[in-house]
Amino acid sequence: MRTLLIVGNWKMNKTASEAATFIGELSQHLPKAPLTGVELVVAPPFTALESVGRVLGSESLIQLGAQNLFWEEHGAYTGEVSASMLKDLGCRYVILGHSERRTIFGEQNDGIRKKILAALTQGIRPILCIGESLAQRESGATDTVLTQQLQETLSGLSPDFVATIAIAYEPIWAIGTGKAATIDQAVAAHRTIRQFLTSAWSSTVADTTRILYGGSVTPQNIESLLASDQIDGALIGGACLQVDSFATIARLTSTTRSIGV
Ligand code: PGA
Repeated sequence: MRTLLIVGNWKMNKTASEAATFIGELSQHLPKAPLTGVELVVAPPFTALESVGRVLGSESLIQLGAQNLFWEEHGAYTGEVSASMLKDLGCRYVILGHSERRTIFGEQNDGIRKKILAALTQGIRPILCIGESLAQRESGATDTVLTQQLQETLSGLSPDFVATIAIAYEPIWAIGTGKAATIDQAVAAHRTIRQFLTSAWSSTVADTTRILYGGSVTPQNIESLLASDQIDGALIGGACLQVDSFATIARLTSTTRSIGV
């Protein structure tokens, strides 16, 4: 059984001190005991990783994630941050290939692939984002786009590596728009992703790999999304920035589907 994964992508929000205060409040709003069958991750900006990690401590139910990394280990790469730097701060996850990185910062699949390998080498689990634009969906190209993104970022990786990656299906038109994909649209995309994993690796890899949905997830729609056993959690932007809504999503996730850890 796949453990559900709920990831808060803070994007470029909260200073280091605001982040520390937020995490203190969030911890108060979450149950003290682990949430059954759910992993929780927060991904603050680089500048807040240290303060958030300090407030979380080593016993926390919430794990630390980053929003990006660079594939080289060290050297003359002004402005970049490596996987080992993130690992040293306690990061367990890293979001890679988010559509904002692709569209605003020009990231391409071959670079994202190098980032995935750098993360895996350091034992950091990548959360690989893929998704189609509205024009691509309307022209019927969704499956082709998703398959190509998967092929160019993952092919050739060992099955063990692939199974530790979480894939986030994030239709670009659903991000920050308040228009989440319908359950049918999300489930169809998740099936396409699983089919790719089966044909490129095996049904075991497809059954083990977690596939999250992202794009306008809220406390109002999380339960219906998770009603499908194709959806193994969510990558959340806007709704993770308020303590109440993130804590509610976390609680609803643990009650909606109690699956083995
Ligand atoms: P959103 O963002 O929840 O605000 O739509 C999701 C994301 O970009 O990961």
